[in-house]
Amino acid sequence: MTESNPKKSFSVYRPIQIIPSVLPADWANMGGCVKDLEEAGVDRIQFDVMDGNFVPNLTFGPEMIAACRKYCNVPFETQLMVSQYNCETMLEAYVEATKGPNGEPGVVIAHAEANIHLHRVLGRIRDLGGSPSVALNPHTPFEMISNIMDMVDHVLVMTVNPGFGGQAYIPTMLNKIRKIRQFVIENNLNVDIEVDGGIKANWTISQCAEAGANCFIAGSGMFAYPSLKKGCDELRSVALDAQNGKIISEP
Ligand code: DX5
Repeated sequence: MTESNPKKSFSVYRPIQIIPSVLPADWANMGGCVKDLEEAGVDRIQFDVMDGNFVPNLTFGPEMIAACRKYCNVPFETQLMVSQYNCETMLEAYVEATKGPNGEPGVVIAHAEANIHLHRVLGRIRDLGGSPSVALNPHTPFEMISNIMDMVDHVLVMTVNPGFGGQAYIPTMLNKIRKIRQFVIENNLNVDIEVDGGIKANWTISQCAEAGANCFIAGSGMFAYPSLKKGCDELRSVALDAQNGKIISEP
């Protein structure tokens, strides 16, 4: 709900969610990994689907995601870094695989750049029982999705060029995050803002949280810790501090 005073409501942040990417995990033990991530206290788990077409890298399809479901109850999120052909043709399988243990909607993220029929794809994700969301590569302006903001539950602002983990965070995405946050408030939308790429428990998550992001995808920034729980707790703590005005500035 947006309060009457937009300025005041901008300061009303949305709950922090820590969402590890499985990219750096031990894929030969992915079931054990998602169980460990659930025990570490994460809010959701992101599966980076890559087809070697939309991005150079190649990862896995819906079967890997579906196979992980029985190992944990935590919600899943599927980022479709794939061509329009794969996204449209396999959409039902991705939505089904991403659902919760009792069929709850899972977050399915379509890339604005990969889908010339983005409005139709997002509508289909909702119709199939998923939680439709949209991702923007670093070069893509917010205006490319302003006409479908009423259809999504999350907007993912990529803070790296998609395809690989361990890349350097791109700090110039902050204005895009702020613009989306302002649009969400002014239009009284119930939309989370996610960031993905180079997010660590330092100035990166801090400035993104201050700018209005509330969902944080971390791969290397999470798996670098000896304990996944420590990683999750540190990421959450820095983001919460930023929402409370304690910002870590860029070095
Ligand atoms: C990019 C990938 C990565 C991954 C997170 O396509 O989606 O952003 O999830 O990688 P780190 O946290 O290592 O940058």
